[in-house]
Formats: sequence, C-alpha cells, structure tokens
Amino acid sequence: MQGFFYLSSSPVERINLPLIRPTEQARGYQLRYNEDRLELMKTGSNAPGPIYCDFVTGKMGYRLVHGRNKNQPLARALGLKGNPDLKVIDATAGMGRDAMMLASLGCFVLMLERSAIIAALLEDGLKRAAKTTALGPLINKRVRLTHTDSIAYLSKLSQQERPDVVYLDPMYPPRTKSAKVKKEMLMLRELLGNDNDAVALLQAALNCANNRVVVKRPRFAEPLADVPPTRSAHGKTTRYDIYTT
Ligand SMILES: C[S@@+](CC[C@H](N)C(=O)[O-])C[C@H]1O[C@@H](n2cnc3c(N)ncnc32)[C@H](O)[C@@H]1O
Repeated sequence: MQGFFYLSSSPVERINLPLIRPTEQARGYQLRYNEDRLELMKTGSNAPGPIYCDFVTGKMGYRLVHGRNKNQPLARALGLKGNPDLKVIDATAGMGRDAMMLASLGCFVLMLERSAIIAALLEDGLKRAAKTTALGPLINKRVRLTHTDSIAYLSKLSQQERPDVVYLDPMYPPRTKSAKVKKEMLMLRELLGNDNDAVALLQAALNCANNRVVVKRPRFAEPLADVPPTRSAHGKTTRYDIYTT
C-alpha cells in the first residue's frame, strides 16, 4: 500500500465553508457534526433526513462482515477468484460502499473522491468504522482515501504505482423524471451534478490499469461513452462492464 494515505488537514480547513452557529439561518445544504458523526443535510421545512457514511450498522454492516461471496457479480467483474490482494483504485469513491465491499472481498483499495464534501463524509465514516473490532483491521490494512480529481491523479501514476484494476461508478442520469431515485442519490446529484467528464475518466483509467477497468452501470444502460466492453458481469439491477487492458 505504498504511496496510499489518508486525508491530512481537518475537514473544516479543507472544505473552506463558513461555520454557522445553531441560531443562525442557513440556506441550501449544511454539514454538521451530530453526536459523533458528520452529516450532510438540506435545510428547509420539507427537507429529507441527513445523509452520512455508515459502514457498521444495517445492511451494509452485515454485508461487509458476512457477504464475502466471490461469485457475486462485483467479485466476478474484478476477477477476484484466485487473485487475492488485488490492488484497486476506486476512482469514483462517492459514499464508499463499493470500495468497502471490494476491501471486504480481499482487495487493497485506494478511494479517490474529488468532492471535498463527500470526501469529508467518507473520511468520517471510515474513521468511525475503523474504531470497531469488526471493521478496524480491514480498514487499517486495506483501505485508503485521497481527496483528488482522478483524471489528474491517474495520469500521474508511475509504472510501479499503477493498480491492477481501476473501478468506476460515475453518476448516471435518471432515466425518467418519475424514476424512483433514492434520497442519497438525489442529494448527491443536486450537489455534484452529472459527472459529465466520465469519458475522459474512462480514458485515463484505461491508460493506467495493469489488468482491467470495471465500470458499474444500470443493467440496461448503454456502455459508458458508448465504448463496448470486452465483456460484462450482470447483477439483478446492475451491470459491470469489463475492459481488459
Ligand atoms: C455515483 S457516485 C459513486 C458511488 C460509489 N460507488 C458508492 O458505492 O458509494 C460517483 C462519485 O464519483 C465522484 N467522481 C466523479 N468523477 C470523479 C473524478 N474525476 N475524480 C474523483 N471523483 C469523481 C463524484 O464526486 C461522486 O461522489
């Protein structure tokens, strides 16, 4: 894991957003520390509840500890069977779920996230999970996070620093206005937009992965940038397009 590191400097310095007191009005979005976790929330009377990274409880917590099935589509797409300790860069880390699944399946994962706000939520979730006995050893050994733009980052890697796999899950535009989009995806899309430079990201990934690039897509979506993959692994609602390099 040489060259892989956690974010340095505090989230407040990095994000450079105004700090407000509880009595002050805030419009739009705010990040807040609630008890011991960092949350992103929308303000206003009809606002949905906050979003935050949680790798410990609920479905995700269960899957990370008990769901290490190397026949699942994600594992097949990365070629994990017979290849322990793959070095993976998740170049669109987001809320870190896919990256954490990959770590639990035995990969060394470097998460890259360009949004300072999402990177701060992710860092906070990782730090809390790293304190638990169930996930601490996994995170300390296999997971790192860097706040950066992946296109620039991937294109600067030396031959020795290149990963086996680059994993991509860029934002996918909703198919219809009535599509049932989860609260989290809705907030992320509103905050971050649509990842319109995903074509350049795919190119940077293809130039850098030693073995393959894996792109997560909705099951019936066109391939990213209309570039046909070498092959695909299919899940119920998701497809993983595999580009061997
Ligand atoms: C759909 S989300 C990824 C969700 C993630 N797979 C998960 O399991 O939570 C896409 C994320 O990729 C990030 N992203 C998109 N392009 C990027 C780039 N060039 N560099 C770094 N992050 C990028 C966005 O900011 C967003 O947070």
